[in-house]
Amino acid sequence: MIIVKAQNYDEISKKAASYIAAQVQLKPACVLGLATGSTPCGTYQELIRYHREEGLSFQKVRTINLDEYYGLPATHEQSYSHFMRKNLFDHIDILAENTHVPDGLATNPNAFGREYDELIASLGGIDMQLLGIGSNGHIAFNEPGNCFVAQTRLVDLNQNTIEDNARFFESAEEVPRQAISMGMKSILGAKRILILASGKGKADAVKGMLEGSVDPLLPASILQLHQNVTLIADLAALSQTAESVLQS
Ligand code: GLP
Repeated sequence: MIIVKAQNYDEISKKAASYIAAQVQLKPACVLGLATGSTPCGTYQELIRYHREEGLSFQKVRTINLDEYYGLPATHEQSYSHFMRKNLFDHIDILAENTHVPDGLATNPNAFGREYDELIASLGGIDMQLLGIGSNGHIAFNEPGNCFVAQTRLVDLNQNTIEDNARFFESAEEVPRQAISMGMKSILGAKRILILASGKGKADAVKGMLEGSVDPLLPASILQLHQNVTLIADLAALSQTAESVLQS
């Protein structure tokens, strides 16, 4: 794994956006895997700037999002579908039909998950996958457990994820208890992965991902098996990681 050190959140966002912009320039019809949460917001802001000020076009880009709360319609303010429109899609020239976010109202979410994986395969796989990391080491909504799950499917959220994400809702009670999450097969199938981590709250998860064994109790550790992963993290997120690992 390549580790790119950033001084702060702003620098993470600028660096991440520069990798994504380069991907779009190199392959205008690329497939971008996109993430939600607070971490990628600055990256999306910077991509909007590339579009507005530097003429970067997303007209041929296809996007695939990692996850969606189960039970929330795409119109709900806290749905990831709404998040993507508000934070990125509405501000660039991407075609709505080229954007894909799991359907939080799918009546058969596991069948939907299989179709979503097939859709990703039919697009030729993901060229560049953007990821955040949960404070418990989750990626997408693949929560710590006793095994890694390959397929996109319905998942139960952990209590600490519900608490972490409660800041976006009126109260923790309003956070959906389930989500549709991309599975590890489609994530690891991406040709290149960019994972972002900012702040002290991610320091233990980052340390576990980099230093620990590949363990489903820390889902991000599976990224050690991928050939082309770049972690962009600020000093706070790297504060628990051994210097020897950062220099290797
Ligand atoms: C959410 C998302 C993840 C995201 C993570 C971290 O629950 N499902 O895709 O990476 O939590 O979120 P944040 O960036 O807000 O810390």
